Amino acid sequence: MLSYYYLIPFVVSVAVNAITVAVSGSGGKAVHPLQYGLMFEDINHSGDGGMQNRAFQGTSSIFPWTAVGGASLTLGTTSPAISSALSKSVAINGAANATVGLSNPGWWGIEVKLQAYTGSFYVMGDYSGSFTAQLKSSSGAVLASASISSNSKTRTWTKHTFTLTPSTKALDVKNTFVLTFTPINSSQTLNFNLISLFPPTYNNRPNGMRIELMEALKAMNPSFLRLPGGNNVEGNKSPNHWKWSQTIGDLTQRPGRSGTWGYYNTDGLGLVEYMHWCQDLNMEPVLAFPAGLYLDGTIVSQSALQALVNDAMNELEFLMGDSSTIYGKLRVDLGYDDPFPIKYVEIGNEDNLNKGQSSYNSYRYSMFYNAIIAKYPNMEIIASTRALSPQPGKTIQDDHEYNTPDAFAAEFNTFDSVSTSHKILVGEYAAVQANLKTGANTDWGKPFQSYPWWIGAVSEAIFELGGEKNADKVIGFCYAPLLQNINSHQWHPDLISFSADTSQTALSTSYQQIKLFSINRMTTVLPLTNSASYGPAYWVAGVNNNSNTYIFKSAVYNTSSSIPFQLTFPGQTSGATAQLTIMTAPNAYSSVTPGGSNPVTTNTQTITTTSSGFNFSLPQWSIAVLTMKGSGSGGVTGDGSLVSPTTLRT
Ligand SMILES: *[C@@H]1O[C@H](CO)[C@@H](O)[C@H](O)[C@H]1NC(C)=O
Ligand SMILES: *[C@@H]1O[C@H](CO)[C@@H](O)[C@H](O)[C@H]1NC(C)=O
Ligand SMILES: *[C@@H]1O[C@H](CO)[C@@H](O)[C@H](O)[C@H]1NC(C)=O
Ligand SMILES: *[C@@H]1O[C@H](CO)[C@@H](O)[C@H](O)[C@H]1NC(C)=O
Ligand SMILES: *[C@@H]1O[C@H](CO)[C@@H](O)[C@H](O)[C@H]1NC(C)=O
Ligand SMILES: *[C@@H]1O[C@H](CO)[C@@H](O)[C@H](O)[C@H]1NC(C)=O
Repeated sequence: MLSYYYLIPFVVSVAVNAITVAVSGSGGKAVHPLQYGLMFEDINHSGDGGMQNRAFQGTSSIFPWTAVGGASLTLGTTSPAISSALSKSVAINGAANATVGLSNPGWWGIEVKLQAYTGSFYVMGDYSGSFTAQLKSSSGAVLASASISSNSKTRTWTKHTFTLTPSTKALDVKNTFVLTFTPINSSQTLNFNLISLFPPTYNNRPNGMRIELMEALKAMNPSFLRLPGGNNVEGNKSPNHWKWSQTIGDLTQRPGRSGTWGYYNTDGLGLVEYMHWCQDLNMEPVLAFPAGLYLDGTIVSQSALQALVNDAMNELEFLMGDSSTIYGKLRVDLGYDDPFPIKYVEIGNEDNLNKGQSSYNSYRYSMFYNAIIAKYPNMEIIASTRALSPQPGKTIQDDHEYNTPDAFAAEFNTFDSVSTSHKILVGEYAAVQANLKTGANTDWGKPFQSYPWWIGAVSEAIFELGGEKNADKVIGFCYAPLLQNINSHQWHPDLISFSADTSQTALSTSYQQIKLFSINRMTTVLPLTNSASYGPAYWVAGVNNNSNTYIFKSAVYNTSSSIPFQLTFPGQTSGATAQLTIMTAPNAYSSVTPGGSNPVTTNTQTITTTSSGFNFSLPQWSIAVLTMKGSGSGGVTGDGSLVSPTTLRT
């Protein structure tokens, strides 16, 4: 009797407190293959060949170039110019037999490592001799040097290429690139333009991306890239929208563009580079078109909008047409025989803002929609706002949300009540500001977080689980913005912060959270029988039929005690094991800062089922994924037809 007496309260307390979750074996909703992706727009990125102001686009300044050896540097025009796109160049003049030239500090530094740097520059002027390209430390030590012989002529722009291979790693990034020559006499002037220097790029792509950033993105298992914005596609005022045709071809053919945030875009990262980025990371492009709304509220009239519609159609032909078409031939002529298939396009960005809604409703959206559907009947077309009315055909709605953690945590059920008639892409979201008062949304007049923090990541996880639960309505999520140069940025917080110093790259708490959910993809989200309601713990479960794995995902928000669960999957046999991965951080406000260590702890353990299912506890401020391999006969079936890349890691 004594043992009975002691045993009962113990068993009862578990039965009362544990949340039991029974996962159904049928009746689920198919998960859309996009699900987790990336959203990118140029926010003072630094990918442009390592050199800041390399081609003097949109500027009347040679900054940050400085003269070497008493040279005089003059920014001006030449006849001929290197191209009609790049009208300005720098003229360099110096004393006879002196070593003269120019120097560049990169984008707030140049990282010099033991790897090959690929450089090029153009020269016009009579010169038979050699140029010297160097990487130098802040103390003047030469870290790498190359001699480039030249037979440059007057009135002709000649391209020179070189490779710099440092024999010493620099101590810091306060290094400079220096390009010099020796004038024969003091009246000799040489003109320089498009002076570029690249470290190795991901997959060795020309004009490519930084390797460590691409590796970090690949590790997130993204399925789509929303490009090229955002506000970036719209432009701040007429006619500064993004123009695809000016971002293709040789770099000499790209004029660049006055960007949305007060600085000039080089467009070195152009349409084809975006496509290569998608190919390299196995992402579906979600291609946005400028749709006749500028951020200053200027709206393109119905008659003038046809030109933008035509431009979008030409862009699609450039990407997908064969060489019998005008723009398909242009692509092939540029060396890209294979088309770049596009399945998703978005018409504009946030067209409900800046007084754009009524023209978007009345003609802007439909002119694009009708033209695209007529030629590409299977295209998935995304409206840039959920407020579009009417919504033709299969229109997908883009939902953007920048909010507080409490507001996101309260949104677990936000998609439950929306109609299934139009699917939703959460094309931008981020927890951006501390909870100012209970339940309050973002106060746009108050400061935002400098970097993402753990409470935000947990709240975003809850928001995403609400989307996963509604897989028949929500097709994908992409945090925004993606990348931030910590030396100069227009917005914060961002998913990843970086500088010239790759050791400073900061993968945020939100990055860690998305990665955990994105590498553990379900193909079908399954119905649940729960013994308790949601909050402060939230969860979804389902199955990945390709990997024959059941998956449970959860996030636990603010609570004083751990939450015990008893979880059963269909066909769960006695002795079944599961991998339980729990992410935590020291506290709700933990954040990664550049150069700092990752505060997120990820623990994976194998647990064995008890008579009442998988029995585990999840602490407050945690995100977890539990996976169980199907038994084969245990009910996991499927045709393996999922089209997205699914890298399941348990
Ligand atoms: C420059 O160097 C060349 C070759 O050494 C020499 O012939 C010439 O006199 C020098 N010119 C001046 C101005 O010092
Ligand atoms: C200076 O050198 C340039 C380039 O070689 C040449 O064209 C020019 O005639 C020279 N001028 C004088 C004064 O020697
Ligand atoms: C972008 O970078 C340039 C330097 O090239 C700087 O002058 C400008 O202020 C930056 N813009 C923003 C919005 O940070
Ligand atoms: C968690 O909830 C408690 C009780 O409502 C509140 O005092 C505390 O501020 C919350 N913590 C955070 C990080 O929001
Ligand atoms: C379930 O786990 C709790 C701890 O969270 C433990 O106290 C309890 O005995 C377990 N129940 C079973 C049936 O194993
Ligand atoms: C995956 O398996 C589940 C459970 O057996 C089933 O309900 C669902 O229809 C399957 N989904 C796909 C996409 O095959």
